[in-house]
Amino acid sequence: MSNKFYITTPIYYPSDKLHIGHAYCTVATDAMARYKRLQGCQVMFLTGTDEHGMKIEDKAKEAGVTPQQFVDNIVEGPRGVKDLWRLMNISYDRFIRTTDSYHVQAIQRIFRALHDNGDIYKGTYSGKYCKPCESFWTESQLVDGKCPDCGREVADAQEEAYFFRLSKYADKIQDLLENTDFLEPRSRVNEMVNNFIKPGLEDLCVSRTSFTWGIPVDFDPGHVVYVWVDALSNYITALGFMNDRYDDYDKFWPADVHFVGKEIVRFHAIIWPAMLMSLGEPLPKKVYGHGWLNFGGEKMSKSRGNVVDPYILAERFGVDALRFFMLRTFPFGSDGNFSNEALINTINVDLANDLGNLLSRTVSMVEKYFGGALPGQGRADQADEELVRMGATLRDRYEAAMERYQFQDALAEVFGLIGRANKYIDENAPWVLAKDMEANAPRLATVMYNLLESLRVSAILLSPFMPDSAGEILRQIGAGEDCRGWDSADQWGALPDTVRVERGENLFPRVDVDKALAELEDLRAAAAPKEIEIEPLAEETVDFDTFCKSDFRAVKVLECEAVKKSDKLLRFTLDDGTGTPRQILSGIHKWYEPEALVGKTLVAIVNLPPRKMMGLESQGMLISAVHTVNGEEHLHLLMVDDAIPAGAKLC
Ligand code: MSP
Repeated sequence: MSNKFYITTPIYYPSDKLHIGHAYCTVATDAMARYKRLQGCQVMFLTGTDEHGMKIEDKAKEAGVTPQQFVDNIVEGPRGVKDLWRLMNISYDRFIRTTDSYHVQAIQRIFRALHDNGDIYKGTYSGKYCKPCESFWTESQLVDGKCPDCGREVADAQEEAYFFRLSKYADKIQDLLENTDFLEPRSRVNEMVNNFIKPGLEDLCVSRTSFTWGIPVDFDPGHVVYVWVDALSNYITALGFMNDRYDDYDKFWPADVHFVGKEIVRFHAIIWPAMLMSLGEPLPKKVYGHGWLNFGGEKMSKSRGNVVDPYILAERFGVDALRFFMLRTFPFGSDGNFSNEALINTINVDLANDLGNLLSRTVSMVEKYFGGALPGQGRADQADEELVRMGATLRDRYEAAMERYQFQDALAEVFGLIGRANKYIDENAPWVLAKDMEANAPRLATVMYNLLESLRVSAILLSPFMPDSAGEILRQIGAGEDCRGWDSADQWGALPDTVRVERGENLFPRVDVDKALAELEDLRAAAAPKEIEIEPLAEETVDFDTFCKSDFRAVKVLECEAVKKSDKLLRFTLDDGTGTPRQILSGIHKWYEPEALVGKTLVAIVNLPPRKMMGLESQGMLISAVHTVNGEEHLHLLMVDDAIPAGAKLC
């Protein structure tokens, strides 16, 4: 096994805050990086941000800041990209920003090198451009005249531009895709070959003159480098290629794998290898195109308004549960439909029921039957065989799945052992053995030991997915440093048989489904963009003397009750300072429960002519503030300081 491992995520557009779909790929990459570190590899895990392009320039303009300020805020600012990766416990080794000066310089050199070797030439670009995707398309690639990636309108574009001789590499790329394992899953190969290569690979427009927020072509001012040439090169500039900032290129390149979402496989499996071929550099060993996390059957995206905020979920359920859910529930190569129900179900079934219970039952039994420390080797039995065999071979099966990036399968293997261990408790009924400790203590010790070993092996293999929880499990079962490593994960028996356990917090509390769903809905609604409408200001004026005739008074609520047979009306009995209670009816039951208003100090206009409503007289009107939020009417009674005495005049 090579002792070095270089893995990357795509670098993210900081045009909006990231959502859980972005976190999906980064969590997968993190799990892979941690797994390789666990195996003892020297890992380089690169992530970062892709900060140039017209979209960012436009967004910055809208926000009234410079593009640099705009991206700085989303990358480094509160709840920005780096904050999110901290929250999600992402253990990246390097973070590249394409605005970093070393990258800018390296891109200029790369562009020049491609130009000098004749693969970049000047021409005129006329075609279609999808601004949100920063992608050029030919007429034949459009779907119903729209962008084939996002389905949005494309615009005509014509300008002087540099072109990269992509067509020259068509055969080599086709061979690479069809005859090697360069691109996985294999299903993506056909898509690339049939949709992009067979129809004829055209040369690629690699510079623009119609906007400025990009890396300038240093030998032709006015041109900026096409964002994808800029972005793809990050994988090598971040190692020091054509710059002095880092010096890891020879050590880590070629990358072992680029993890990318399926819609950007095209760039990574066609343009990127062609660029590297042109530069005469080795190709990455693999591009893995994972699926999307959808919501309600559609790709999560800001413009569709269906994004899920990872902060809300991580704060509510814990980072480890969220990380685990994403990789346990969806096969990495295919799309998956995110839902709060699925998340809660995974937490309850796998984490609370299976893993959490196994841990808490085992640790409590060791405490209860042996005072917290096992008494040494016990008596083995045929009844142990299946569990021990499963536990001792788990690492190999897990490894095979991890090497194929099948996180779901790797986790299914671990949960196979956890499920088997829970069954083993029932089969061996420790509580029955404990009834006669004199006769059964050695057997009971073995049963406990096998359970602790199951937990130990599982926790080691879960650590790439749930680093904190796995550490806590190992702590509770008393596993020392020497039996927490990869090598000990296939050594059944590595845990000392006199181990002392230490009970801790309940790692995965069961989630009350209805309550949690309601809370999440409230949080989502609170975080959702609000469209607040207020009534337009009145155009008609009222003369001062007329206005002054309105008599507004502070009134105290003596009694308040719902009017019978009315959904809306509340009947107030008010102290207006005169000594005679005043009755006012108000149609606000939708917003207030009557009991909650007793004792409050409100404002009423008291010199309106009395009005009859539902047979009752209303002597004035209570003053409220009204507005609508997302089309729904909201009302707040005007409540004033209770120190204001009843009857005080408002003027
Ligand atoms: N900047 C480019 C990548 C350049 S790499 C040299 C880009 N950025 S992005 O921010 O739009 O997307 C980054 C990654 O997030 C992509 O791999 C994309 O597929 C992934 N995802 C965005 N939404 C997603 C889901 N809903 N589900 C899964 N992955 C998704 O593309």
